[in-house]
Amino acid sequence: MTQLLSVSKAVRLAGVSRRKLQKKIGSGELSTFEGKVRIEDLLRVFPRVDLDADPTLEQIAQIKSKSKPMFDWQQRDPPSAEILLRRLQTLSSLFLQTQRALDQNSELLKLAVNKLDVLSRDGDLGEIAQGKISTLFEQLSRQQSELDAQQDQMLEAQNPADTKQQRHSHNKAVLFTKNLLMHIIAPSVQIIPSGHEFLIEGGDTVLEAATRSGLNVNYGCNDFKCGGCKARLISGQVVETRTPGYKLSAHEKKMGYVLMCCNTAITDLTLEAGEAASPRDLPEQTLETHISGLQQLNEDTVLLHLRSKASDNFRFLAGQKAVLTLADGMSMTRSIISCPCDGQNLYFVAHRGSGDEQTGQFYQGLQLGAKVELVGPKGEFCLQNMSTNPSLFIADDAGFSPVKSLVEHAISIERIKGFELYRQGSKSSPSFYHNLCRSWQDAFENFNYINPQPDVSAQDIAAQIMRDHPDPAKFDVYIAGVRPFADTIKNALLAHGFPAKRLRVEVMEDEIF
Ligand code: FES
Repeated sequence: MTQLLSVSKAVRLAGVSRRKLQKKIGSGELSTFEGKVRIEDLLRVFPRVDLDADPTLEQIAQIKSKSKPMFDWQQRDPPSAEILLRRLQTLSSLFLQTQRALDQNSELLKLAVNKLDVLSRDGDLGEIAQGKISTLFEQLSRQQSELDAQQDQMLEAQNPADTKQQRHSHNKAVLFTKNLLMHIIAPSVQIIPSGHEFLIEGGDTVLEAATRSGLNVNYGCNDFKCGGCKARLISGQVVETRTPGYKLSAHEKKMGYVLMCCNTAITDLTLEAGEAASPRDLPEQTLETHISGLQQLNEDTVLLHLRSKASDNFRFLAGQKAVLTLADGMSMTRSIISCPCDGQNLYFVAHRGSGDEQTGQFYQGLQLGAKVELVGPKGEFCLQNMSTNPSLFIADDAGFSPVKSLVEHAISIERIKGFELYRQGSKSSPSFYHNLCRSWQDAFENFNYINPQPDVSAQDIAAQIMRDHPDPAKFDVYIAGVRPFADTIKNALLAHGFPAKRLRVEVMEDEIF
């Protein structure tokens, strides 16, 4: 029986990065069938796959946990016994149906082979007809022997693997079993029309799993009442795990609509759902939050953790900003430094400022527990939608916040082929920035961190980028920093031939160090 795996599952089962797997697909080494991969092909392309270790995924999990604080929702519970039982029941009935169909087909094949055998010896038939029947008989007999041999191999694979052939069979059986287990503990979801994929782990709803994977699927509330997360179930089965306040109409139910925030998967799913592709797809939101953490990054800079009520989520795209207003009316626009996969815990950097009265007062007003109103999201400095191009991120200290958010989001969605970060630091830069970039570099083979000497000029950084990349056409470029820095780099790269449509620039007018 041919086992077709979604790309997410193939990545997880083979223990390689999505980027590595997609590279093999792109080069034609690994075939796909309607976006899916066969277990046999996976083993052919990754024959040395270590079925116990999952180093790349560990790296990604590590960097995600290092780069972001651990939130309550990340310590998630396993799926409930009821959900596991439903998945198990569905899987076993699927197996029974498949087994029945296989047995019937095998019987039919045997019958056809026997009939052909008799016919091939029938003297009443002409020589040509007899020859053709003999050829068909041989072909079908061969097919039957191959099927029998495959079954024998699967049985042999349960014994310790010695020969190359046995090792292959053993790996195939282990992958097959792991895939079955994943149906139970982490069903996969494919969203159409975007083709994005993710796994549902623990007791997550479809919506929780999608946002955790960095996808910006449509939703509108956190108390199951708005209907904004409606999606159409194209294939698979779901089960309700939360009681919806929104009632789907009879027509919507007939069309297969479900609420992603109230359902989890029983089997692998295909869902038709809307996703925010640009800032224009997101509504403006106002959110009540409080200061839940203040971490001093250096004498004049603080990392600010805002937390909203459990029922409120702030939707934004990586790289965007929000307006923060304190109870005394003091207000600042700041870039969100965290990833959009958690809309309840938002992080910003605030500076004491250099003589600017408003900045100073805002900084002084930051006290643990203080209420902060959040309005946004604002800004258009986001990742190029659906692009898989290698990307250059270039930031000074002021531009580090949006660039950190972009890089973390790019890590979450694992779509970009390669990243390079050129960071202009200074002697007073928070060491947190440098350490974080170093940890990305250590964790990802496709991430390169270039950190020139402190206070090197923007001109020199631009010259280094041009030396490092004599062929600029293939890159997406993201530049963030104070105006002189951003303009100098942008103008130099445009003159060097970087395509303007692939270059995004964020001038940090309000966020000067
Ligand atoms: S997000 Fe509001 S009902 Fe699902």
